[in-house]
Amino acid sequence: MILEGKELTKNYAGKDASVAALKGVSLHLKKGEILGIVGESGSGKSTLLKLLSGLEAPDSGEIRLHEKMLSPKRTKEDYRTMQMIFQDAVASFHPRRTIEASVREAVRNLCGRDAKFEKEELAKMVGLTPDLMERRPGKLSGGQCQRFAIARAIAVKPEILLCDEITSALDVSTQAQILCLISEICRGTGTSAIFVSHDLAVVSCLCDRIMVMKDGVVIEEGDARQIIEKPKEPYTQRLIESVMEIS
Ligand SMILES: Nc1ncnc2c1ncn2[C@@H]1O[C@H](COP(=O)(O)OP(=O)(O)OP(=O)(O)O)[C@@H](O)[C@H]1O
Ligand SMILES: [Mg+2]
Repeated sequence: MILEGKELTKNYAGKDASVAALKGVSLHLKKGEILGIVGESGSGKSTLLKLLSGLEAPDSGEIRLHEKMLSPKRTKEDYRTMQMIFQDAVASFHPRRTIEASVREAVRNLCGRDAKFEKEELAKMVGLTPDLMERRPGKLSGGQCQRFAIARAIAVKPEILLCDEITSALDVSTQAQILCLISEICRGTGTSAIFVSHDLAVVSCLCDRIMVMKDGVVIEEGDARQIIEKPKEPYTQRLIESVMEIS
């Protein structure tokens, strides 16, 4: 097991009362596996990724990476191992720096001051030409930025990619390309991924296993095909039906 979360809870201070965003969520991820997390808005998907990535600390519960318990204060190596990719790729880059400078900074920060990256090879891995890396994020399309956000993540040679709705801001054909890219990278390099989406269709074509979340808990979990073909929970059934209606 590469990553494990046990009984994770997280409460946020709300306007009148506190919001229980996660009410005891456990999960595991194997090497090379792509785990999908689906659920309606507010079900706790992003909160879970924030806890796993170390952006926020859980109120209770444990997170283990390679069997070792992670403290709330992560090391650089922990951050390198788990790379988060966000929905808004453009905003995830410094607006006044070139993509190349941002990637270089990430690599130096997490891999050491003398660490280098092969610009040509990296651009090729995400299906773009290296000259585009000399541009600032505002001079690229959303899809190109998302490809470079993936490039920045894989440049530090992570073991796990944490993807939070990374295709939601893109048009349908670009979405499909980004999904293929994540799949190629994970299958080609043995990288694991957790792929969060409210879209069950997206998750089902990419992931090996699916976890369904509702109101801060996991209500169903299993092999991707089994979840789609034989969902146990009416809530999962409804998520599947809503996808069928659209397509
Ligand atoms: N920083 C915060 N402060 C207060 N409440 C928060 C905060 N972050 C999340 N929440 C609340 O926690 C719950 C879970 O939010 P979360 O963002 O994890 O949901 P989600 O499943 O990612 O939803 P979406 O599909 O809309 O992205 C929601 O009720 C949300 O309003
Ligand atoms: Mg979210």
